[in-house]
Amino acid sequence: MFEPLPEDLARALRGAAPRLGAFGRLRFVTETGSTNDEAVRLAEEGAPDGTAVIADAQRAGRGRRGRAWFSPPGSGLYLSVVVRVGQAPVTLSLVTLAAGVAAANAVTAASGLPVELKWPNDLVVGRSWRKIGGVLCESVGGGRVDAVVVGIGINRGAAAYPPDLGDRATSIETELGRSIDRAPLVVECLACLADRMRQVRARDDDAIRRDWRRLGRGGFGQAVRWQDQGVERTGVARDIDTAGALVVESEGRTERIVAGEVLWDRRSHV
Ligand code: BTN
Repeated sequence: MFEPLPEDLARALRGAAPRLGAFGRLRFVTETGSTNDEAVRLAEEGAPDGTAVIADAQRAGRGRRGRAWFSPPGSGLYLSVVVRVGQAPVTLSLVTLAAGVAAANAVTAASGLPVELKWPNDLVVGRSWRKIGGVLCESVGGGRVDAVVVGIGINRGAAAYPPDLGDRATSIETELGRSIDRAPLVVECLACLADRMRQVRARDDDAIRRDWRRLGRGGFGQAVRWQDQGVERTGVARDIDTAGALVVESEGRTERIVAGEVLWDRRSHV
């Protein structure tokens, strides 16, 4: 059901083969439900580390918290990669932090745009933090984290997000004011992911967290709101901890937000 790799992608992958190593194994499909579902299926069938799936369009692209990820053809990047973490006791949150850093670095490398991270893993740009992409990591195989599928969605052109998100979302081409090719962006995503997953396997948690903090520091010191068992809480975001939780100062106490929706008051929210 996979199709031959389009020539632009095949050429770019050949050129970057030494950088990509195992992450150069890219499968292509014109349209699918969700590339994450395809990658989970491949992982369950035993696909090796670095196996990746890219689609031109998704019928049922998924975002975090059960949201749909708008995935029309021609203007978005929809990429999912099987990551095998081996014997090391690696947590999904470490892979998630590392994948966010990789995706942000990849967009910057391919476009020059200074991309920041908004906790937990939105790729944002500009003073008002418009969303330019997102990362959805899903573990495969139940209990012990055996494989993780890292799904990356990036708005390359303006048509990649619905018009009603106009003031909260943006695209690489909108920000640059010119078009960009998809192939260098795909190569950077795969290469940056390969680098970061080496750090994950080496359990270089400190380097991953340090780099996430550097990209996410725009959020530290910002007022945030979140729901805690049906009650709205407010505080000031201060940091992330070793487990990837958002550390917030609230009513004189330090709280950890592990999951859920966080609204950043001084910035627009997607
Ligand atoms: C988010 O909500 O910010 C995460 C969005 C992740 C979307 C990508 S697109 C490729 C992969 N396939 C999916 O169905 N979702 C991810």
